[in-house]
Amino acid sequence: MPAMKTFPGNFLWGAATSAYQVEGSPIADGAGPSIWHRLAHTPGLIASGDTGDVACDHYRRWESDVELMKTLGLNAYRFSIAWGRVLPEGRGRVNEAGLDFYRRLVDRLLARGITPNVTLYHWDMPVALDELGGWLNPDVAQWFADYAGVMFETLGDRVPMWATLNEPWVIVDGGYLFGVHAPGHASLREAPVATHHLLLAHAAAVQRYRAGGWPHQIGIVVNLEPKDPASDSPADLAATRCSHTYFNEQYCDPLLKGRYPDGMREIYGDAWREWPAADLARISQPIDFLGINNYTRSLTAHDPVRPPVFERRVIPEGATKMINGWEVYPPGLERTLLWVKERYGDVPLYVTENGGPFADPEPVNGRVEDPLRVAVYRANLRGCRDAIAKGVDLRGYFAWSLMDNLEWNAGFSQRFGLHHVDFATQVRTLKDSGAFYREVIRTGGAALGD
Ligand code: FCB
Repeated sequence: MPAMKTFPGNFLWGAATSAYQVEGSPIADGAGPSIWHRLAHTPGLIASGDTGDVACDHYRRWESDVELMKTLGLNAYRFSIAWGRVLPEGRGRVNEAGLDFYRRLVDRLLARGITPNVTLYHWDMPVALDELGGWLNPDVAQWFADYAGVMFETLGDRVPMWATLNEPWVIVDGGYLFGVHAPGHASLREAPVATHHLLLAHAAAVQRYRAGGWPHQIGIVVNLEPKDPASDSPADLAATRCSHTYFNEQYCDPLLKGRYPDGMREIYGDAWREWPAADLARISQPIDFLGINNYTRSLTAHDPVRPPVFERRVIPEGATKMINGWEVYPPGLERTLLWVKERYGDVPLYVTENGGPFADPEPVNGRVEDPLRVAVYRANLRGCRDAIAKGVDLRGYFAWSLMDNLEWNAGFSQRFGLHHVDFATQVRTLKDSGAFYREVIRTGGAALGD
């Protein structure tokens, strides 16, 4: 009889959020504003004029939100620290009230048997540092390491999992190359500099963690997805190869192989720089885990008017779409995990985000029917189980998201939650997908079926 496919007994079953998307009260109790607060208050940049001023009001409702996690049966929770809550100017003066918020949250999670998985940077650079150049300033690695050091001193004994950065690719592509995300720059010259500085900042924080002798794990979170050509035309094949280098290898190669992939110069031309070997040695120092965010794949076609990668996403005939235009692609997560193992070997992995936005109905008698999201979770969790059976060292899974929240430029229009949030009343209602995930957790994966 073939061995039963199953999840390890110590598997982490989690859900994720990030500070600006859920906390609200972004400048309360002495916090300094972030670049997303600034962007949200610039008219026209977020759909419907939405802002993170209240969001899910998690800053005030964190206690009942921890109980939501408990009811789901989670044994882990991924969240991020708002840098400016802790250091209002990004460096120097510490804001104890900000630290207290995270101290209380971590202590409560631990008391409730939920492992905190803390991300240090989920896109909310303090404005004071952005005014000094943000990710373009060569001092940013030092600023970030000093901030990380404050957090390690505060919580390093109690937090078992730290991630330095969330999705450096999105930070640069959205914030420095195309300018739709904060800080809103669109510059071919700046983008590769921001990339390298992000990786150096990651490295500096890891070094700080090791130097402090903290006893737990530190890693980084990247977003990855399979890239498939939309046709056999040479142009589509070339766009797919470039897109794969740019999206999947640009960050993983330096982190895990100590070199940038060869195709970077082809993409950036003269804007690409050769960086010192010593930098790459620092960037590739060992990490304890790699966090992977995956939502879809990209069926890629050549697009002549979209430099520097010249790619366009195509949705195949008959495929289901999420409301943000992504393809529902059931094999995507398993393919991603297998690719990481094949290219980078056996680094311990966590899926740190996975899920999807759909047009959910309003709650009726305390129920929210979201069958498309249930199907996404079923397929992707089966993919995780199958990847483990194929030898992938996958140690945990975090659904995005614990609850509907501020989806960046799309505002509150794109709901990704296991819980529906009524943003007028702040009432949370478990969706069918949340109930499904709860059952998967309760049965250790058996509820996924074959
Ligand atoms: C990821 C982000 C996360 C959320 C999901 C949908 O890129 O890390 O904050 O917005 O996408």
